[in-house]
Amino acid sequence: MKGIILAGGTGSRLFPLTKVTNKHLLPVYNKPMIYYPLFAMKEAGITNIMIVSGIGHAGSFLELLGSGAQFGLKISYEVQEKAGGIAQALSLAEDFSNNEKIVVILGDNIFEDNLVEAVKDFRALPRGAKVLLKPVANPKSYGVAELEDGKITKIVEKPKDPQSDLAVVGCYMYDPQVFDVIKGLKPSGRNELEITDVNNFYLEQGTLKHEVLKGFWGDCGESFDSLMESGKLIQKSRLAHIDEALAIPADKVTESTDRPHKNLLDREEVDVFTKQK
Ligand code: DAU
Repeated sequence: MKGIILAGGTGSRLFPLTKVTNKHLLPVYNKPMIYYPLFAMKEAGITNIMIVSGIGHAGSFLELLGSGAQFGLKISYEVQEKAGGIAQALSLAEDFSNNEKIVVILGDNIFEDNLVEAVKDFRALPRGAKVLLKPVANPKSYGVAELEDGKITKIVEKPKDPQSDLAVVGCYMYDPQVFDVIKGLKPSGRNELEITDVNNFYLEQGTLKHEVLKGFWGDCGESFDSLMESGKLIQKSRLAHIDEALAIPADKVTESTDRPHKNLLDREEVDVFTKQK
């Protein structure tokens, strides 16, 4: 299975931090933001990864990450000429994916959970897609899943009047038909090809699975507060130590990063963007 990290877009919500620096290169506690999705991929056993970035910043990613060899990864790069939406950025990885199933992670998302089991479960499926959910305090800012009897019935992108608090987080797993699905999409009101439309296609096809994350999840690009809160959470979690973990072989990552750390679900101050249950 191959991995794709999407790091294009404009980062307008974090302006002026993003005036000369790409959002995904900004510091989040002790590392550049992009290290966290890279680690999440590696921990899930995915080492062949493509990074899709915006045109002005491709060189900075290359300088920071190189071939990926320093991390035991193989990293390729693709350039998104214009921010046309998450699904449009993903479409650029069609040749790279080479008809294999893929895991896509948004470059500004932080996952405390080890995603290895979710990926393993998806690997075993014959076809379809899988999304991950997390209860949040501000569902209006995300794609929101409505559930009935434990099944997703609908996903709405940034609903004005959310019917649930379950955000669809930025980790998506797809079979190879995803690229044909994207070719059939029409731009949304904000003139983007929406990943929510892709997920709703699989939902209607009856092949969309989901699971709910246990640990904290952060979308660092959502606001200055979410960027700061993500850093604070990382400081107190195993994610503070991932530099070393990125440098060791993929099959040893889970074991070697299994450090004692406080269960962040008990903490009250983590509540800025994630409603803890
Ligand atoms: O973080 C989870 C949310 O991400 C989901 O709940 C939403 O359904 C999904 O639409 C997305 O919402 P955002 O408004 O947060 O997306 P944003 O525009 O910030 O883009 C997220 C990442 O996707 C960004 O870090 C880089 C990448 N991206 C985005 C766009 C618009 C690209 O690579 N190219 C693009 O054109």
